[in-house]
Amino acid sequence: MPNKTYKVLKDAKSRALIDDDTYQKWYKQSIKDPEKFWDKHGKRIDWFKPYTKVKNTSFTGKVSIKWFEDGLTNVSYNCIDRHLEKRGDQVAIIWEGDNPYDDKKITYKELYDHVCRLANVMKANGVKKGDRVTIYMPMIPEAAYAMLACTRIGAIHSIVFGGFSPDALAGRITDCKSTFVITADEGLRGGKKIPLKHNTDLAIKIAERDGVVVQKVLVVQRTAGKVEWFADRDIWYHEAVASAKPDCPPAKMKAEDPLFILYTSGSTGKPKGVLHTTGGYLVYASMTHEYVFDYHPGDIYWCTADVGWVTGHSYIVYGPLANGATTLMFEGVPNYPSPSRFWDVIDKHQVNIFYTAPTAIRALMGAGDDHVTKTSRKSLRTLGSVGEPINPEAWIWYYNVVGDKRCPIVDTWWQTETGGILITPLPGATPLKPGSATRPFFGVQPQLVDNDGDVLEGTAEGNLCIVDSWPGQMRTVYGDHERFIQTYFSTYKGKYFTGDGCRRDDDGYYWITGRVDDVINVSGHRMGTAEVESALVSHDAVSEAAVVGYPHDLKGQGIYCYITLMEGQEGTDELRKALVNHVRHEIGPIASPDKIQFSPGLPKTRSGKIMRRILRKIAEDEFGALGDTSTLADPSVVDDLIANRQNKK
Ligand code: WTA
Repeated sequence: MPNKTYKVLKDAKSRALIDDDTYQKWYKQSIKDPEKFWDKHGKRIDWFKPYTKVKNTSFTGKVSIKWFEDGLTNVSYNCIDRHLEKRGDQVAIIWEGDNPYDDKKITYKELYDHVCRLANVMKANGVKKGDRVTIYMPMIPEAAYAMLACTRIGAIHSIVFGGFSPDALAGRITDCKSTFVITADEGLRGGKKIPLKHNTDLAIKIAERDGVVVQKVLVVQRTAGKVEWFADRDIWYHEAVASAKPDCPPAKMKAEDPLFILYTSGSTGKPKGVLHTTGGYLVYASMTHEYVFDYHPGDIYWCTADVGWVTGHSYIVYGPLANGATTLMFEGVPNYPSPSRFWDVIDKHQVNIFYTAPTAIRALMGAGDDHVTKTSRKSLRTLGSVGEPINPEAWIWYYNVVGDKRCPIVDTWWQTETGGILITPLPGATPLKPGSATRPFFGVQPQLVDNDGDVLEGTAEGNLCIVDSWPGQMRTVYGDHERFIQTYFSTYKGKYFTGDGCRRDDDGYYWITGRVDDVINVSGHRMGTAEVESALVSHDAVSEAAVVGYPHDLKGQGIYCYITLMEGQEGTDELRKALVNHVRHEIGPIASPDKIQFSPGLPKTRSGKIMRRILRKIAEDEFGALGDTSTLADPSVVDDLIANRQNKK
């Protein structure tokens, strides 16, 4: 595809908060004197006690990251209270239900009431500053209330995506020793019910076996479906908040007090509890929300992510609400009741800024243009993409068909660990190239290094590192600082290593090429191949498993599993189905294997290490380019793998 550049649109430029000159000027300042730059921008949020120290960070030794450390603030205060005077009656949250006839609007005043009541309920049930609260919820406003109520009293929330299994939920409850859970009776997506309370009951049993006893479960009634009830543990949300006081003073939090934990997958071991803290995170989330989307007061803003992922944290709840925006929360799925749903919702609520994932764009592109073109979409001004590389075909369709060639696309690259967007266009400043995340945000210094850690200058392709801290950066792995150092700062000493590969072109634009570690990205959901492997080997029939990603038209990457069976087991289609179900049960439907290949052996080196490079090539059906196989203990394994490959093109 030709490497066409799309000039900055005239309209986007004329209304923009940041034009190209400002971008260049601010970027230079932010790198030359980060202290001064962030001293100024840290003030975009309200502080009970202003900070005097701005930046105190080190990527070497024990790795310590502190921003605004002597300031006192509160996140819920910044997301609610400070807006009450000017926009108390403005809508804070538009909720669009799974069913298109189901919606509601919550003003900032109402948000204050909901959050204060819930905070008081939590306090009355023993939740204190620093306690971990697990949130396992559908996309309903109560999920946002729960997050904000935690921040109001200084509790640390840990949201677990509603699509995760009881086992996965239990693992996250035990890891952070969380004894208070907020959930709903059932979730509703695409007309299907998800048994959240039932899953919670099961997870609590598993956690108990592992030594963590959940004391209270607060249950929102969403569907009024039947649930089991444990009277001394379970509390109905609607009953408890009805009798709670409607005011709750915000706790004065230190800038570096923990705000939330969010579990995410890495190349090895169990998911890590990424820890974000209060002040720097909020400054960064709100600033990126404003400038990356060119947010103006009064705009209707919609991010289609789920609050179970970091995008939902930073760009449905914290960034937009800190800016006093109207944020739309969508309970459903893109193709229910029809593939026009996104565009219908945009027209219905007159959405100005729309932020979604490439996987959804590709799926809707496949459904045909008619579903889009029959809607107006005139309100749209800025489009966004996040979660995985966007292929140029999908980008161009998004630009031409959805945006009618009048809306800039911001392809935003970032990670759970980074808290907010790091590489991105700005709508009124950056000429666009389909498939490129373009240029770094203020204060962000990307660097490409080769596998030996040597810095690559100019036009180059390598491993993407960030050389200095930004306020939204994660501070540690919850309960395991050593793992934090090992994972992110030991591969290339003194640098934050992202795990992504990246190319820089002649214009200094960045093109993310995907993960270079054993993490795969399935429909924008991040997954460790090790997690899927460990789920597979926990099945009685499986002796050994190796999992790799392969290019998938809709999902970005699919999950390809190589399996060696126990003696006497037979690799039938029935067993394939059983294994798929087993993984869904252990992790959740998002981890469903796409291809399963049974194999008498796996390609290993003489020291027993599985050569994944070979497995990846075979999964991609590119076995002509296997490279050097001479170090294999048994090279004949490869012939069998090729003969029985499951992904013949
Ligand atoms: C990938 C999601 C290309 C990348 C916010 C990263 C992207 C991982 C983009 C983080 C993008 C995210 N272009 N790749 N615009 N955005 N990624 O933690 O591989 O769920 O490392 O955070 O998604 O996924 P996570």
